Amino acid sequence: MAYLQPDKPEKVYLPAIRAAKEKGEKLVCLTAYDYPTARIVDEAGVDMILVGDSIGNVIHGYGNTIPVTLEEICSASIAVKRATERAMVIADLPYGTYHVNPDETVRNALKLMKHGGAEAIKLEGGRNRVDLVKRLVDEEIPVCAHIGLTPQSVYKLGGYRVQGRTAEQARQLIEDAKMLEEAGAFAIVLELVPRELAAIITKELEISTIGIGAGAECDIQVLVLHDLIGLSFGRLPRFVRQYANLREVMTEAIHNWTADVKSGAYPSDKESYGLTEETKKELDIG
Ligand code: KIV
Repeated sequence: MAYLQPDKPEKVYLPAIRAAKEKGEKLVCLTAYDYPTARIVDEAGVDMILVGDSIGNVIHGYGNTIPVTLEEICSASIAVKRATERAMVIADLPYGTYHVNPDETVRNALKLMKHGGAEAIKLEGGRNRVDLVKRLVDEEIPVCAHIGLTPQSVYKLGGYRVQGRTAEQARQLIEDAKMLEEAGAFAIVLELVPRELAAIITKELEISTIGIGAGAECDIQVLVLHDLIGLSFGRLPRFVRQYANLREVMTEAIHNWTADVKSGAYPSDKESYGLTEETKKELDIG
């Protein structure tokens, strides 16, 4: 895959993320998994696009992120990268792709970058991932870490619950965040942790925190696009504010089209093609 166009000067890479933290400027990140949504998100000025393994819930209907494969993320990332001019593209390493050994992890991350067009990868875990983060960073792979609720541990955690509520858990998460920063991660997703804890971590780290269900103090906010625009199914988590209801918009459009087809109002002559008068004469019609 060749990218012949040079980057726009405003293209977001790691230095822009660092500079925003230094200036106290908030950034935004949304998920996308295909060309049209990535293009809309990028053109709307979102700074980072995450090709998240939430693709398992949102697109494939798996119910959780466990079955998501590297190929699914890679294919989505290719489409997202093609659609994106300014935002930084981050791709998730799915469950099972960084759990076997470090060499295989590097190979998988490189696949997302070389074939998927990802500009950084994200993986879940705290102190248990420190060596892996160091190794990936050593191989020139920008790494975003992810602590708090880590959905790939859903079977171990027994559900999607707020993490770090006790003092001991909170201390552990603060330590994890510092260790991941030390290991070279350029940012850390804090998912579903109390806002006070997210505020402490954000203050204590030089790298950016990316909050989802973690309060307003995080440097960057991320949401699953389909939750934001009302294109997901099931109960929305409390931290989601739905800014549009595309399910309603789509349903209404489909109902209207169906009704027009049944009544004969669609397609009209303007929405179809006709023969020339000469051909009609030759055919001896109309
Ligand atoms: O996969 C995903 O969408 C994520 C976000 C929820 C941070 O990891």
